[in-house]
Formats: sequence, structure tokens, C-alpha cells
Amino acid sequence: MKGVILAGGLGTRLYPLTHATSKQLLPIYDKPMIYYPIQTLVRAGVDDIMVVTGGPHAGDFIRVLRNGRQFGVRHLEYTYQENPEGGLAQGLGLCEEFVNGESVAFILGDNTTDAEIRPAVERFTGGAMVFLKHVPDPERFGCPVFSTEDPLRIERIEEKPAYPGSRYAVTGLYLYDAQVFEHIRAITPSGRGQLEITDVNNAYLRSGNLAWEELDGFWSDAGTFESLYGANKYWAEKSRTED
Ligand code: DAU
Repeated sequence: MKGVILAGGLGTRLYPLTHATSKQLLPIYDKPMIYYPIQTLVRAGVDDIMVVTGGPHAGDFIRVLRNGRQFGVRHLEYTYQENPEGGLAQGLGLCEEFVNGESVAFILGDNTTDAEIRPAVERFTGGAMVFLKHVPDPERFGCPVFSTEDPLRIERIEEKPAYPGSRYAVTGLYLYDAQVFEHIRAITPSGRGQLEITDVNNAYLRSGNLAWEELDGFWSDAGTFESLYGANKYWAEKSRTED
């Protein structure tokens, strides 16, 4: 399985922190943020990785990550998303040749987790897999709505719904088969002008090919001051208790 980490965007919600560098290079306790998704992939046995950069500070990534060998990455590639806010699905769409017909583990560069996705990666046989997490603020995320007849079946996923249909967030970790690139080609920009990964997941749902599981462990995004602070706090405390 190939790995893709999405690390573009402008990080405007974190201005002034992101005037001079990318969000995904800001510190989470003792490491740049992007180390975490890289290590999540490497722990899952995914060591052939493409990093999607974008925006004015894309060149910073190579200085920090170099060739990735220090993380156990066997092969590291970079690409550049011309429109840094064209959407998550647009960023993934740039990786079709790299993925080359295999399946792909896709992780957002501002998501940190200590959950192990290795079992899911090893079991994955096709379709799509999303990882859900119970959160206090599902309106900030992609949010699944479950069927009333079958409470384990996701009926649809709504992107940042004003009135969330459940207390779950769709986290920024996804497994896809190579069909994902067909779905990306078929979607159109949302109201906020982005190719939404939620639309891709809904396309898999409609064809009956989307599975889900609950992420077992800590998970947070770090795209707001509040979540950036919360992630720093968690990783600092975890490191202290492990020492
Ligand atoms: O964190 C999980 C959430 O991530 C999901 O629940 C949502 O369904 C999904 O849409 C996404 O929500 P956000 O709107 O909060 O994503 P954000 O704009 O913060 O972008 C996530 C990461 O992807 C961030 O590291 C920046 C990068 N990015 C974003 C866009 C829009 C890109 O590289 N390119 C882009 O075009």
C-alpha cells in the first residue's frame, strides 16, 4: 500500500503563526507536526510515501524531511498543489501516477493520532475505509449520519453540518483502492470551492463500498489555536508519562 500525506493549504486560521512557514511544520510538543502522520504510516508498514505540498512555504518541507530515511521511509516523493486550497480530493488526485493502481493510505498533515492503523491496513481488500472518532464538536468535521433501521450503517456523510447527525467526526485518515481516482474525477467543487473528500466518501457509500471503524486512541486535528494547543498538551503529557 502506498501512502499520501496532504500538507498544502494556507493555514489561514492559524495566522500569524503561518505567515512564515507551513502549518504542518509547526511544533507539536517536540516534533514538527508532519512527523506524526509519517510515523503513523511507517508504524502501519507503509513506507513508500508522497507528500503533497502547496502554498508559499512548500520548499521548507524538504529541509525538514529530507529523504525520509530518518523515519524509516523507504521512498519519499513530493508534489505541489497549484491551488493550495483546491480541496483534499484535488490534492490526492495529484498522486494517481505515484499510487500506480495500488491502494493508498491517505492522511492529513495536520492530524495526529496514537491509534494503530496497521491491522486495518493489513485487512484492507478494496473499497474505502474511514476511521471515526467520538468528538464534542462534530460540526467542525465530516460527520456521518447513521441509518435509523441499521444503526451500524452510515447513510451519508455531511461536511461541517450546522446540525450534526451524530457525535462522530470522520478523521483525516482514509484507506482507498485505486478506484478513488475515478471518483475524484467525477466530483465537482463544493460551495466553498473545494473538491471535497467527503464527496468521494459518499460516492463509495452509494456503491456500497465504504467501511468504517472507530479509531482506538487519541486523535486530533491541529488547524485551530484550540486544537493545536490541545494536541501539544496531549503529546507533551504522553511523553512525560512514558519517560
Ligand atoms: O481533520 C479532519 C477533517 O479534515 C475532516 O473531518 C473533514 O471531512 C475534511 O474536509 C477536513 O476538514 P478541514 O476543512 O478542517 O480541512 P483543512 O482545510 O484544515 O485541511 C486539512 C489538511 O489538508 C491541512 O493539513 C491542509 C491540507 N490541505 C487542505 C486543502 C483544502 C491541502 O493540502 N490542500 C487543500 O486544498
